[in-house]
This record gives sequence, structure tokens and C-alpha cells, in this order.
Amino acid sequence: MSPDRYQSLANSAFGGAVTKRLGLPKPPLLERHEPGKPLVSAPVALGAARGGRLEEPVREVLRGLDAHVETDVGSVDGRGELAALLFDASGIDDSVRLRSLYEFFHPLIRALRPSGRVLVLAAPPEDSAGVRGATAQRAIEGFVRTVAKEIGRNGSTAQLVQVTSGAEGAMESTLRFLLSARSAYVDGQVIRIESGHLATPADWDRPLEGRTAAVTGAARGIGEAIAETLADQGAEVLCIDVPTAGEGLSEVANRIGGTSLTLDITGSGAPAALADHIRGRHGRIDVFVHNAGITRDKTLARMSPEAWDAVLDVNLSSQERLNDALLGDGLLGEGGRIISVSSVSGIAGNRGQANYATSKAGIIGMVNALAPVLRERRATANAVAPGFIETAMTAAMPVTAREAGRRTSSLVQGGLPVDVAETIAWLASPASGGVNGNVVRVCGQALIGA
Ligand SMILES: NC(=O)c1ccc[n+]([C@@H]2O[C@H](COP(=O)([O-])OP(=O)(O)OC[C@H]3O[C@@H](n4cnc5c(N)ncnc54)[C@H](O)[C@@H]3O)[C@@H](O)[C@H]2O)c1
Repeated sequence: MSPDRYQSLANSAFGGAVTKRLGLPKPPLLERHEPGKPLVSAPVALGAARGGRLEEPVREVLRGLDAHVETDVGSVDGRGELAALLFDASGIDDSVRLRSLYEFFHPLIRALRPSGRVLVLAAPPEDSAGVRGATAQRAIEGFVRTVAKEIGRNGSTAQLVQVTSGAEGAMESTLRFLLSARSAYVDGQVIRIESGHLATPADWDRPLEGRTAAVTGAARGIGEAIAETLADQGAEVLCIDVPTAGEGLSEVANRIGGTSLTLDITGSGAPAALADHIRGRHGRIDVFVHNAGITRDKTLARMSPEAWDAVLDVNLSSQERLNDALLGDGLLGEGGRIISVSSVSGIAGNRGQANYATSKAGIIGMVNALAPVLRERRATANAVAPGFIETAMTAAMPVTAREAGRRTSSLVQGGLPVDVAETIAWLASPASGGVNGNVVRVCGQALIGA
């Protein structure tokens, strides 16, 4: 049963009538990934502004998905007919040409079905030749973020994918993720794709086949979901957590057919112990997910030095030390992936979380700085920034703060651990080599932060 009782109530026949009469929001039921279901189950519309370079590569990906691309968009007039609206805006080189966005989306937006997808493909503004081009490309972000806010009540999402010149062939894993139900709680994001070292998986449902992955904090919560999802997509998973969580950790590792290592990542011997373990058992690691994290909330005036130190050490400094061990010893395999779990608190700040927000903002700095280093090694570093996720941590929040956290997003609900896990699995894919140095929020377009 959903942990969100209000959502269940508002979607029941009786409760729905009551909440409607009271003018209360109805949190939509989000479609999530189910094995065997087609990735795109209704026709999609594809449009382009003149002079774009992304329409053909997008069409090619859609062909591979067996998606039906509606050729006569003028005939679309019903509600809920289309699974996705895709638009290549890369050719827009002047603000007066932004009107092509309006012209494509205005007649079609009502035809988007629930849990539908809007994807705008564009160029990074800084790559544009000239001021006019950069202005127009940057303007697109305001459009996409607003569309996301307007369609969220329907469970639908909108994203902007900025593709650098030469990276047209690197879009497939990202398009598959964003079009699918796996991205249910990712909304209003700007994702940048560059050319990178990629490998196309033999089976898109199991892109991590033959890869080894490690997840810290895997005994429960979001880490458990990450370990499960990576295993489900074919990875051999090493589950890591503190010795006191050993029982839960073994249970998770056994269930997913992985292995476990009890390790306090803050310990002075932790980097060497991890390196020894990986070298001895696996030889190398392909995907390392820094998920372990703690909170010790108090306003700054009341915060003890111990609370500051503990949070910074678990959430940030230990990650830096583990990365040094992985990279210094060459333990991260070719095409390796480092993925860190940040937080929207690290983007926007949050009252009572000076220690936590500092640590989570530091993670963003870390992946930004690591990205060019890893690119040289044909690897990537990225972060996910969850918003309100339904876990033991958020279940323990005071009821008013919990309700506010749940409702103040475009999708009017909290996310599930699997939503964070699916986002990490996309970044972990060998086909995602063009996604590097990104910070992707998994927050249902939460109203706090950017
Ligand atoms: N739950 C949310 O809404 C939310 C939102 C934003 C970000 N996050 C982040 O997601 C991550 C997971 O959060 P969660 O809600 O699943 O938390 P959780 O407390 O349920 O799980 C965290 C896990 O990390 C482990 N851990 C803690 N210290 C460790 C250490 N020193 N060494 C090894 N393992 C250690 C814990 O034992 C636990 O199993 C954290 O980084 C958290 O900051 C969570």
C-alpha cells in the first residue's frame, strides 16, 4: 500500500468526490516501470524548429523503440492520445523564433495522456554562436520548467535535454530513460549530453550485465532500492553498510544475489579496506554509488560541533577519500561510473540543515570537478539530488512538515526509493557515457530550489 494515505483517498471514488468538493489537490497515480510493458505505449508527436540537428537522431531512437510517430499532428484533437511530445529546438537561433515552441506545443499539449512526457532537445546556450543564439537557447529552459508545472497534476513530466554538437549519437540511453516510466519522479530537469565513450547494451533491459557495482548504505532505504535495481538490470552488486546494520545488509545482498561488506566509511582504514576487498573479490569496480548519508538537524546556533563533524564526514569527506582510493589504485574500470547522492537541500539550503546542506552542496562541487578528470579515463561522475522520498527518514518527520514536503512539488506527492534508484541505473549504464558532470534532481519538480 502507498505510504501516502491522502493520495490513496483522493484517488478513491468517495474520497475523490470529497477532495474535489473541498478544492484539494488530487495527487496523480504515477505510472512506474513494469517488466514486459512497452516503453512507449501510445503514439508520440515529433516536431522541430528549422535548422535543427537533433530531429533525425531522435527519430532513429524512436524507430528502435517501435514507437509510432504521429505524422499528421493536425489530426490529433482528442485528449490523452499521445504518450510524448518531442521537439528539436536546437535550430532556434533568435528570440523571435521561440514562437515555434508555442506553435508546436499549444495545439498538442491537451492531447498528452496521463504520465505523459514532454522532451525538448536543444543546445547548451554557451555553445551557441553569438548573443542572440545563446539568449534564445537559454529562454527554452523557462518554457520547459513552466510546461512541467502545468502538466504535473496529470502525472506528466517535462525535461530539457541539451546536446552538445557532436553528441547526437549519445542520446539514446537518456531518451529511453526520460520517455519511460522509469523516470516517473524526475521532472523539470535540464540534462546535458556531450560526446563520450559509450557502449550499446545487447539488452536494454539489462544494460549492466557483466558489470560490478558497489553501493554504500545499502542495508535499507534508498540504498537498498539502488542495490536491487542495479542487480535487476544485470549488475553484480557489492552492498556496503556499517557493522551494526550487518543483518539487514546480508538480507539485501542475499535477496539480490550480490555480496556484502560491513564497513564504516568514515573509519581511517576504510579506503584501504575497500580497495583490498575490491581487488581481491572483483578485480575492479565499474559503478560506485555513494549513497550512505546521515542527518543531524539543528539550527546553526544550536548545532553541536559533533553534529557538524559527523555529517560532513559521512556525507562528503569519506566519499572523497574513497574516490582517491578507487582512482589512485586504478580500481574503477574502463567506462567506470561514480554516482553520488546529493539532495535538493544542497541546491537550495534548508533551515536546520547547515551541516547537511553544506555536505550535499559539496557533492555537487565534487562531481563537477571530477567529471573532466573521469572523462580523460573514459568514465563519468554524476550526482542525483532527491527531494522528498518516502523512506523511514521522512516517515519520522512531524506530520505538517511531512505533508508540506509531499505536496509542494509539481507532482503533488513524494517519490519512492525506486525512483532514485532508476535514475542512478540510467547514469550507471554503459550507454550513458555522454552524461557527465550532471546533477539530476529526483524531486517531482519540488518548489524549493532551482
Ligand atoms: N529520504 C529522503 O527523502 C532523502 C532526500 C534527499 C537525499 N537523501 C539522501 O539519500 C541517501 C539515503 O537516504 P535514506 O533516506 O535511504 O537514509 P537511511 O538512513 O534510511 O539509510 C542510510 C544508510 O546509510 C548507512 N550509513 C550511515 N552511515 C554510514 C557509514 N559511516 N558507513 C557506511 N554506511 C553508513 C546507514 O546505516 C543506512 O543503512 C542519503 O545520502 C540521504 O542524505 C534522502
